[in-house]
This record gives sequence, C-alpha cells and structure tokens, in this order.
Amino acid sequence: MDRGLFITFEGIDGSGKSTQFNLLKEYLEQKGVDYIVVREPGGTTIGEKIREILLNKKNDKMVSRAELLLFEAARAQIVEEKIKPSLEAGTTVLCDRFFDSTIAYQGYARDLGLDRVMDLNMYATDGLEPDVTFLINVTPEEALRRRGVRGEADDRMEALGMGFQAKVANGYHEAAKRYSRIKVIDGHRTPDEIFEDIKSSYEALL
Ligand code: TMP
Repeated sequence: MDRGLFITFEGIDGSGKSTQFNLLKEYLEQKGVDYIVVREPGGTTIGEKIREILLNKKNDKMVSRAELLLFEAARAQIVEEKIKPSLEAGTTVLCDRFFDSTIAYQGYARDLGLDRVMDLNMYATDGLEPDVTFLINVTPEEALRRRGVRGEADDRMEALGMGFQAKVANGYHEAAKRYSRIKVIDGHRTPDEIFEDIKSSYEALL
C-alpha cells in the first residue's frame, strides 16, 4: 500500500490559513479520499494540555526555550500517536500548522536560531517531513485587520503584536526560500481564488 500524503498549512495569525484548510478538507471529502485532520499544537490528549499551557495568556513568564520545547513535545506526541500510523495506513493527513511554524515563530521571531530549531524539529518528528506545505501569504497589516473582524480575544502568541508577526512573516519567507515543498500562496484574494491554487497544487501531487 502507498503511504498517505502529508499536507500542512502555514501562515501568520489571521492569514486565512484555517479557511483554506477547511476548503481542502471539504474537497477531499467530496472526492472520497481517506483522510484525517489534525492541528498543532494539540490533536492528542497530551498535546491539547500542552496547547492550553502554551496559549494561556496567564503564562506570561514562559521563557522562549521552554516555549520551543513544549511545541516540540506536543509534536512528538501527535507524530507517534496519529500522523505516522495514518500515513502508514495510506491515509492522507491534513495538518493545520507543523514544524515550519516553529522555524518562523521560535527560530526567527524568537531568534532561537534555525539550526537548533531544525535539529529539534527532526528529533520531535523522528525525521518525518511534510510532502507539501501551503503557506498562505498576507501582510501583517492585513492579518491584523482580519483578526479584528473576527473579534476573538488574542491568545498568548497573538498578543505579541504586529512587530512579532512581521518577524514571523520574514521567518516564513526564509523557510520558503530553503524548502521547495513550501508553496507560497497569495492570500490577498477571495477564498475561492486562493483555493483554486491549492487545488491545482494538490492535484499535481497525485
Ligand atoms: P493556531 O492559533 O493556528 O492554532 O496556532 C497556535 C499559535 O501557536 C499560533 O500563534 C502559532 C503558534 N505556534 C508557534 O509559535 N510555534 C509552533 O511550532 C506552532 C505549531 C504554533
């Protein structure tokens, strides 16, 4: 049996990534593809507890190294519990964020360094990498506007503000230069227009 496809979605907070994630999910459903959806951090009982620690604004004393290791801990758990077994069974895995988030947020925006982050990423995933990554690219200004429209309270990471999101965006651009599996998708269009690009890229993989 062929291994399943491992597809990840990335973008700064408010990029519209989750909308595109859901459109691809619906598309797979219509096509009768065998798939699962997961998100990071979270997606397992242990991972959801770690997510609560990471995103709770009360944890304002968390140091960046602890933050990095907690994201990696949640990742190790979901890779072993859900992602690897599904891929081995031939199931497509759609993951809302994966280790490119750690490159952009912790490696670049927190300035912990790309090499260290990539070493830990590989340790956490035991060498597993996505087959394709859709990076929804919008300016930090547009992302902030979209988050305002949504009106949800900021979590601990979102509360870090525009300057931080700009560094994250830069981190994503650097990652996209380095890894050809990352497809940069222009997010300044209607959801349907954006999804057309994602659909074509997905079809081309089959
Ligand atoms: P979400 O809101 O898309 O679920 O993501 C949770 C937040 O955690 C988001 O602000 C991005 C951040 N994050 C990191 O900083 N590093 C990571 O490795 C991951 C997966 C997410």
